[in-house]
Amino acid sequence: MAFPKSIGLSVIVIIVVLMGYGASAGDFYNDFDITWGDHRARIFKGGQFLSLSLDKTSGSGFQSKKEYLFGRIDMQLKLVAGNSAGTVTAYYLSSQGPTHDEIDFEFLGNLSGDPYVLHTNVFTQGKGNREQQFYLWFDPTRNFHTYSIIWNPQQIIFLVDNTPIRVFKNAEPIGVPFPKNQPMRIYSSLWNADDWATRGGLVKTDWSKAPFTAYYRNFNAVTSSSKADSDAAWQVHELDAYSRRRLRWVQKNYMIYNYCTDLKRFPQGLPPECKRSRF
Ligand SMILES: *[C@@H]1O[C@H](CO)[C@@H](O)[C@H](O)[C@H]1NC(C)=O
Repeated sequence: MAFPKSIGLSVIVIIVVLMGYGASAGDFYNDFDITWGDHRARIFKGGQFLSLSLDKTSGSGFQSKKEYLFGRIDMQLKLVAGNSAGTVTAYYLSSQGPTHDEIDFEFLGNLSGDPYVLHTNVFTQGKGNREQQFYLWFDPTRNFHTYSIIWNPQQIIFLVDNTPIRVFKNAEPIGVPFPKNQPMRIYSSLWNADDWATRGGLVKTDWSKAPFTAYYRNFNAVTSSSKADSDAAWQVHELDAYSRRRLRWVQKNYMIYNYCTDLKRFPQGLPPECKRSRF
């Protein structure tokens, strides 16, 4: 040994600690189960990547082994390239049962060169109807991009490449249930939804382009039970000024649907959580 034992030991301790912190990063074998689609879902490169595909017979999907109650969850996705019209890649957190909670990202495919739609929703106690939809400011099929959920007792923040696109605040004081008791699993699937996904169902899936494939990597979860909790970046109570500016930028330039402004849909009055000034 070129250095004293004590240094050797602390090097080992540091390595072990680093591995402990990073344990949730990057091994799909450890963190996920493939739940349907047989060979259409595949983990490869020693657990670093996962892919889902869809053909005329079936789509495919996976779910996390663990359940999460609050935390920050990041995943990088590279969506179906080329003509992805009619396909939907769903990536979401959900608990079980009729009064389940759910936090959704859904990527609605499109013809080559036409924009994907990122559809988001929040279910609390089994009730959803809180859709917001966005175009993205990049082509999500060319490279991996990071899609994150920060979920704490105060709010749920949806982020794309670290830019917040949507915030769902805890509005329990005015009677809106908030997800805070039911642990959720992470789910993802790729399936055919050409009855509604692309231009409301006008554009159908072109099966001559099958199989359609989406890729996943760099999963990371920081939760209240993990060691990295002390830095607890996910426990944000308020977005900082920069993040609020980014959020406004996305909502102004890329939001294409917001249930909170859909007066036609809610003639009796918008849902209570839409009255933002209260928070
Ligand atoms: C697909 O492209 C059309 C035309 O640009 C656009 O109107 C639509 O919002 C896009 N996305 C989906 C999922 O339909």
